[in-house]
Amino acid sequence: GVKIYDVQELRKTRPATVPDRYVRDIHERPEVSLFSYSTAGDVPVIDLSKILNGDYHELYPEIQKLASSCEEWGFFQVINHGADLNLLESIEKMAMDFFMLPLKEKQKYKMAQGTVQGYGQAFVFSEDQKLDWCNMLALGVEPHFIRNPSLWPTKPTKFSETIETYSKEIRHISKKVLRCIAQSLGLKGETFEEMFEEAVQAIRMNYYPPCPRPDLVLGLSPHSDGSALTILQQRKGSSVGLQLLKDNKWVSVQPLPNALLVNIGDTIEVLTNGKYKSVQHRAVTNKKKDRLSIVTFYAPSYEVELGPLPEFVNESNPVKYRRYNHGEYSKHYVTNKLQGKKSLDFAK
Ligand code: SIN
Ligand code: FE2
Repeated sequence: GVKIYDVQELRKTRPATVPDRYVRDIHERPEVSLFSYSTAGDVPVIDLSKILNGDYHELYPEIQKLASSCEEWGFFQVINHGADLNLLESIEKMAMDFFMLPLKEKQKYKMAQGTVQGYGQAFVFSEDQKLDWCNMLALGVEPHFIRNPSLWPTKPTKFSETIETYSKEIRHISKKVLRCIAQSLGLKGETFEEMFEEAVQAIRMNYYPPCPRPDLVLGLSPHSDGSALTILQQRKGSSVGLQLLKDNKWVSVQPLPNALLVNIGDTIEVLTNGKYKSVQHRAVTNKKKDRLSIVTFYAPSYEVELGPLPEFVNESNPVKYRRYNHGEYSKHYVTNKLQGKKSLDFAK
């Protein structure tokens, strides 16, 4: 198999620099000195309660804001989402406890090469591919048949139970957000829920230890998500790390406390024929601080056939994507390295 190092173990040796496998080609380097750190207000903030419970005067502008966020950013932060904040805190804590376990313990759940479940690093296919400065724990959650129970950690105690409860909560929020997105497109609220059938849900926890050379490496390679929707939680007190590509510039996302960050995935881009954007993003590292993100992917079931909805195709917006099976698309996505928006070439 392809040799993959463990960045936490690497870090323990207090290296002054990083192995070649992590050193990015010049055009991919983060250019630390040129970062334009955004303020919290930059990524649009959507108040979910205004859409779900607000009167017309609250609802309408919020729906408008949601529409423009999806068109211009592909990202938005959700506040008043209704998630149990204690649960959000406890998954962060348990994920940290997991990543701090000895390597030997974590390797009981080792991700097999070419798969995307377990502990390790996904999307690595060759010896000359650059590696991300990141350790992952990735698990399929719903529907049950995608689970691999032997990869669900038994330490820390109650971690698996917490993942289960957390995933239910996030599923609930994903459905609510999808209803709002449908509304913002002028579609019937249940459009996506009905279309996705028994939606596929997966969770990925990304741990980025401090890195001696943040100027040379990436925490996570640029990519767009293969999901319909992604819900991202960033641990309180973590370093800033997520960057999204806007107007050809990498913009750092400053997390808002207790908010959940949502981004549009490839599925919604295809269904809306490009109106809503699945935006490229990446993670950068920090010299002193570590970072943890907890990411939930919400996607159609594998049998679903996708293609641009007729509502978004007309003479001035000719069809941009072909029809395809989402299961085949998913397979394509997980068997290729992360490379910007290349995954969507499958649909062209
Ligand atoms: C991701 O794109 O999966 C997450 C990046 C991050 O750590 O914020
Ligand atoms: Fe992503």
